[in-house]
Amino acid sequence: MKQFVQLTLLASTLGLLPTSLACTNEEDCGLNGICSHNTCICDPGWTGNDCGRLDLRPGPRANGYNLTEEGTSSWCNQILQDRLNKDLYHLIVSEFTHGCGLDYWSPFSRIIRAESTTGPLGPYTFKQDIAPSFAHNPTVIWSETDQKYLMYNIGCPQNVPSTCQNVNFTCGPGNTLNGESGISLWSSPDLYNWTSHGQIMPGTNNNAWDADITNPAPLHLSSHHKTRNSHPQTILAYRGCPYNCSGAEQINLAIASVSTGPYTRLHPDSPIFPFPSEDPFIWEDKRGNYHMLVHSLLADAGFGDGPNVGRHAFARSWAGPWTFNNASVAFTTRVVFEDGFVVDYFRRERPSLFFSGDGEMRPVLLSTGVQEVGGMGSYSLIQPIGDGKGI
Ligand SMILES: *[C@@H]1O[C@H](CO)[C@@H](O)[C@H](O)[C@H]1NC(C)=O
Ligand SMILES: *[C@@H]1O[C@H](CO)[C@@H](O)[C@H](O)[C@H]1NC(C)=O
Ligand SMILES: *[C@@H]1O[C@H](CO)[C@@H](O)[C@H](O)[C@H]1NC(C)=O
Ligand SMILES: *[C@@H]1O[C@H](CO)[C@@H](O)[C@H](O)[C@H]1NC(C)=O
Ligand SMILES: *[C@@H]1O[C@H](CO)[C@@H](O)[C@H](O)[C@H]1NC(C)=O
Repeated sequence: MKQFVQLTLLASTLGLLPTSLACTNEEDCGLNGICSHNTCICDPGWTGNDCGRLDLRPGPRANGYNLTEEGTSSWCNQILQDRLNKDLYHLIVSEFTHGCGLDYWSPFSRIIRAESTTGPLGPYTFKQDIAPSFAHNPTVIWSETDQKYLMYNIGCPQNVPSTCQNVNFTCGPGNTLNGESGISLWSSPDLYNWTSHGQIMPGTNNNAWDADITNPAPLHLSSHHKTRNSHPQTILAYRGCPYNCSGAEQINLAIASVSTGPYTRLHPDSPIFPFPSEDPFIWEDKRGNYHMLVHSLLADAGFGDGPNVGRHAFARSWAGPWTFNNASVAFTTRVVFEDGFVVDYFRRERPSLFFSGDGEMRPVLLSTGVQEVGGMGSYSLIQPIGDGKGI
């Protein structure tokens, strides 16, 4: 017995065992695992005492979409496997025209498609324009109901200046400074041929906490929910803030019975959790629980320096209550590469996950937009996620 205790202490000191044995239910494990004998057994891809940390692994430096060498910056990347050719991967990403850096995302951002034939990590090569400037924040899902890909994004077409500068314009209610407010929808049968459906959820010209809406992140409920009539087809997570974004940025959900809307705010008077954040990414796990990754705007994160930029939130029902895990950090600004190279990024935002294709919803890759300290350019970084069992 004494020997066991000493071994346990040693293992715990070495970080081989959880240091506190504190769970009583699955909520204590962030719904990212089960609680067994007061210890969280995390699902593959998640780690830490409360399964609140992504099990990020060193990956290759040649990954994602990094065109900063030739002067092109990008942001907001999302990976999709081709439905017909399983060896082909698409990256839907926003990049900035005229060689403009991240400070000029508005109005220079446009949405493009890039391809990789060397696996989902990339590197990806530019293939086509999808939406011209100003278009930003693409998030794409395959809709079984529509039998189409749906792309949710922000923006409206603008004649951009010939040199990098900010201009004041609006894409509708909620913001007259940089056109960020209002969510648009595009559809495509194949990711190649896109049709615009215009703005499907505008902001508002009132004093609502979320008059200015951006950062769309859609979720279509999986087929097992469809038998229950009360469920909406589309759930849309978004970031709200007061008019002209003159106050706290927080997360809310909107729901619609058809993908083209109308979309109704789930909580008209308050966000789904009281923690400042943006860039939500939402998914449903194999147990039917709901999860979000967000870019945290708490004091130890925000726009630059970080380091605790990535946070996780979870709920048993999409309607909530949602719990924001403010104890653990899902990912930080530090990235270790497989050659030992370490980068502490200035900004690391816009998280999205690429899941295993076996229905287990195991996160296998983390996509983020990154900007280096002192760097004007930004690029799309993709990092592998391990099986959660440690190295
Ligand atoms: C991205 O490209 C820039 C410019 O070539 C380079 O300095 C940077 O190290 C690259 N990032 C990675 C992760 O290799
Ligand atoms: C235009 O927008 C910028 C931010 O993009 C802001 O700093 C500036 O005050 C705005 N100018 C006017 C005239 O509203
Ligand atoms: C693209 O889609 C539109 C609308 O579905 C269709 O009319 C058009 O023929 C398609 N174009 C190509 C090149 O496939
Ligand atoms: C938003 O900003 C614009 C440009 O500075 C200003 O004219 C307008 O009054 C602002 N609106 C609100 C509601 O703050
Ligand atoms: C997390 O949030 C709760 C509720 O707001 C608060 O009571 C607690 O002190 C916070 N914990 C940390 C580590 O920030």
